[in-house]
Amino acid sequence: MRVLVGPESTDLAELYAVPRTPWLRVNMVSTVDGAATGETGTSGSINNAADKQVFDQLRAMADVIVVGAGTVRAERYGPAGKPLVVVSRRGQVPDSLRDAPRGSVLLATCGTAEGLGAARDLLGAEQVLVLGSHRVDLPLLKQVLADRGWGHVLSEGGPHLLRDLLASGAADELCTTVVPRLVAGEHPRITQGPPVDVPLRLHLLLESEGTLLGRWLTDSPTGQ
Ligand SMILES: NC(=O)c1ccc[n+]([C@@H]2O[C@H](COP(=O)([O-])OP(=O)(O)OC[C@H]3O[C@@H](n4cnc5c(N)ncnc54)[C@H](OP(=O)(O)O)[C@@H]3O)[C@@H](O)[C@H]2O)c1
Repeated sequence: MRVLVGPESTDLAELYAVPRTPWLRVNMVSTVDGAATGETGTSGSINNAADKQVFDQLRAMADVIVVGAGTVRAERYGPAGKPLVVVSRRGQVPDSLRDAPRGSVLLATCGTAEGLGAARDLLGAEQVLVLGSHRVDLPLLKQVLADRGWGHVLSEGGPHLLRDLLASGAADELCTTVVPRLVAGEHPRITQGPPVDVPLRLHLLLESEGTLLGRWLTDSPTGQ
């Protein structure tokens, strides 16, 4: 991997170090024509070795993983080896995580969620974070995780959650992998939902056999 923009280093831990906590970054992959999924309908059909290397590095560095329930359902997420927070408005724990070891999975949801009682029974009340009445307050989620000692937050998407993290100002950073492929067809982009307009500042750009891996900063208002 070579650095196109950023400090001269080959050490991914150094290149991806976060400047402070709390810090929330989102990591996503897309094709050159903007598809966030490939033929199987998941990101697993477009990612590659360079993306996997950075994906693994970011997971290893984070205190906690935050992911939207739609991504967990589509990609059949299992436990992540560190605390995994599923964001769900409906408050339903996806099937693939129902047998996860107690304490390894948390749910971030809202007070009116239909699945609230069942989620508390399944995960334990401590693991169910009610953050708002009708919607999940994402900046508050970031703060609540920091209060638990998890100041370095990695979100692995998906597109609706990324859009909401950007709109709410909770995201400090977006890491994107652009793989050198075109797929056409009908696929989501890495952001889905109502329009946002979030300027980004390029912090790092790596290249590996045509794959471009960037760190983009949002200068988020919730950053402190
Ligand atoms: N290219 C990539 O890097 C990448 C990364 C991740 C996922 N993906 C792909 O994206 C697709 C899934 O897309 P998606 O947009 O459905 O993913 P998503 O954002 O993970 O899931 C949407 C669901 O997550 C919950 N959610 C998201 N934002 C929320 C918020 N602000 N508050 C409360 N709940 C929230 C809701 O769950 P409830 O319905 O339970 O209320 C919502 O229906 C899959 O094909 C997956 O493979 C691609």
